[in-house]
Amino acid sequence: MPSPWRIEGVVLPEKSDILRVTATPEDIEKSYAALSRIYSVLEGRFESKLRQRMLNMLDIREGERLLEVGTGTGCGLAAMARAVGKTGKAHGIDITPEMLRLCRRRTEKAGLASRVELTEGEARSLPYGARKFDAVHVVSTLELFDTADIPRVLEEVRRVLKPQGRLGLASLSREGHEGSIVLRIYEWLHRHLARYASCRPIYVERSVVEAGFSILKRDEMFVGGLFATKLLVAAPCAS
Ligand SMILES: C[S@@+](CC[C@H](N)C(=O)[O-])C[C@H]1O[C@@H](n2cnc3c(N)ncnc32)[C@H](O)[C@@H]1O
Repeated sequence: MPSPWRIEGVVLPEKSDILRVTATPEDIEKSYAALSRIYSVLEGRFESKLRQRMLNMLDIREGERLLEVGTGTGCGLAAMARAVGKTGKAHGIDITPEMLRLCRRRTEKAGLASRVELTEGEARSLPYGARKFDAVHVVSTLELFDTADIPRVLEEVRRVLKPQGRLGLASLSREGHEGSIVLRIYEWLHRHLARYASCRPIYVERSVVEAGFSILKRDEMFVGGLFATKLLVAAPCAS
């Protein structure tokens, strides 16, 4: 899919490294605590189509046990809890207590509390046993982690997935968009607002394959018409 605003004829390096994240987990938590007040408006405007497409690709079945990493205000988690039905369970983990509070309120209001379990915790060391989940959903979250932490988070996801489990991942993508003006502006902003805007486009597919997954489905969309976002469903390779 062609990137919007690509500069024709400009020769750029084939591949360059993703930007580092200088924000600490405490900075990120503070930013999301502040953002939580307006996050529902932002996600409704920019991310609801992305989430819907990702959940369709993940093809959730009744009775499954699911996990969302970086569950935010719980739009995705509520949809997951509906899809697993009364016999399933949707777990959500997030580092920001304010986000979890809004998530709890949303799922309680929707009458889904008995199917949902929320945990305040860290994606780099998930507080769950091995081979516990049928699917793990990670949307607009992996790109918040610094370069060395991306494989760490994916390794944790792989550990908690059942051998036949699936990862549903949607993240801002650099793959094939190195020449895009949008990418350059985004990365410029990231450099200048690094303490607040920790997310930046990453090599999504390469990270997932390097972490020992095989890709089952892939798609791409431009969130808000601008930001290239890769959607993948992947399965852990047998080790
Ligand atoms: C951009 S929001 C995405 C929320 C949700 N997945 C969605 O699609 O609306 C990223 C979420 O990741 C959470 N987060 C950031 N760093 C985290 C970490 N180290 N461990 C767990 N959650 C984290 C933030 O608090 C925030 O709620």
